[in-house]
Amino acid sequence: MPDLTTMPAESKTGQQQGTMGGGETPERLLVTDTRTGKEYQLPISDGTIKSMDLRQIKVSDQDFGLMGYDPAFMNTASCRSKVTFIDGDKGILRYRGYPIDQLAESSSYLEVAYLLMHGELPSSAAMKEWERNITFHTMLHENIKKFMDSFNYDAHPMGMLVSTVGALSTFYPDARDVHNAEARMLQIFRLIGKMPTIAAYCYRHRRGLPYVYPENDLSYTGNFLSMIYKMAEPKYQIDPVLERALDVLFILHADHEQNCSTNVMRSIGSSFADPFVAMAGAAAALYGPLHGGANEEVLLMLNEIGSKDKVGEFIKHVKNGERRLMGFGHRVYKNYDPRAKIIKQTADQVFELTGRNKLLDIALELEHIALEDEYFVKRRLYPNVDFYSGIIYQAMGFPTDAFTVLFAIARTSGWLAQWQEMLMDADQKIARPRQVYLGYDERYYVPRDKRP
Ligand code: SDX
Repeated sequence: MPDLTTMPAESKTGQQQGTMGGGETPERLLVTDTRTGKEYQLPISDGTIKSMDLRQIKVSDQDFGLMGYDPAFMNTASCRSKVTFIDGDKGILRYRGYPIDQLAESSSYLEVAYLLMHGELPSSAAMKEWERNITFHTMLHENIKKFMDSFNYDAHPMGMLVSTVGALSTFYPDARDVHNAEARMLQIFRLIGKMPTIAAYCYRHRRGLPYVYPENDLSYTGNFLSMIYKMAEPKYQIDPVLERALDVLFILHADHEQNCSTNVMRSIGSSFADPFVAMAGAAAALYGPLHGGANEEVLLMLNEIGSKDKVGEFIKHVKNGERRLMGFGHRVYKNYDPRAKIIKQTADQVFELTGRNKLLDIALELEHIALEDEYFVKRRLYPNVDFYSGIIYQAMGFPTDAFTVLFAIARTSGWLAQWQEMLMDADQKIARPRQVYLGYDERYYVPRDKRP
């Protein structure tokens, strides 16, 4: 490890970090270790210091050296990424530089999936090829039906989805060739293509209805709605308002930089496991009520509150720590989640068709009170993406426990874009954090008959 008191550390490419070109002195952090009086200069680049540069700060040659302690990675950059940018204070979200409101207004989910994966918006020819490749992979192996039929009728669809995505790994052993760009892209087509089919099969299994096969002449969300709602009619009549609203919701949920489930996708992927099992892990993380499972929790919470006049009572329980206001707060956004704003606008279009969901009035009253209450203002708690999405999904006819499945369909493109970026990043290695050990020092085994 170079002694940084004299020169900037060199990154793997041998380039001096933190240099501003033209040979100016690179930005550095000056630290003094008061235990030894030694001084160190740690190069600063991209607003960070390299944690490994701390390891040379020791009290003796036998000392392991300093580490950073950061449970839940509150202030740790795990990667350099070009996929998504969030500014939590300003409420900014951009996919590959494009603001989320412009994409929601003018793009489609499949076009956004292409953008996340390839870094640029597609030409017409590229889009046609992309759509054909994904449409070509919407079918599931017939054995998957037998696998899904083995679940109880009331199995939670997220448990079914996580298991089925993992099981797909056994059907596509070629997915293990993670360093082959062509093989990676084939799995990306398969996963983006098959997620709506898996989700629809979960829904149909729950209702004891026959599975509906994908129809390749339909749009991505149109095909999904057909696989969900088609009954005996020869062709499901898709409502264009719902088809577009779902497409917008999928765009809004497509990626969100290093959230919990994406961190899992990158971590599992860093061991070179195949993308099916990595995504099963990511979907499992998303299922948690603090993450993607919050949209289901919001609906349960709104139903429990029951009416606008009971909102004040519920807020009291939140403020005394007994309850969480689900759908509120965010690790990054300390302002209004830009996605929540767009979802609210989309809700109005859906309710024109489906009729207003009375739960919206309770949600609006919750938001109104919370945004003026010191408890929430002080903690900078605002509605996040999950606060209003469930209200729309319910109005569209989806059962509450299917909401996180819808989130998972959309996030598939983000997970895969981040997974691929990780594999192609020369800085990345297998993820293996350190720990601060607080357990026993060495002690000796005591035979059971000698124990107190
Ligand atoms: C998603 O990371 C992402 O990008 C996620 C996501 C994505 O697109 O991938 O945006 C999707 O997961 C959105 C978040 C959905 N989860 C919820 O809505 C669940 C409710 N929200 C929280 O549990 C919480 O806000 C988190 C989990 C979202 C963030 O938690 P943090 O950043 O760890 O904050 P914290 O739990 O440390 O809370 C800080 C303070 C605490 O109060 P004090 O201890 O300081 O007194 O704020 C309070 C918390 O009690 N607080 C809340 C609250 N969220 C935080 N109090 C009441 N209700 C809440 N919802």
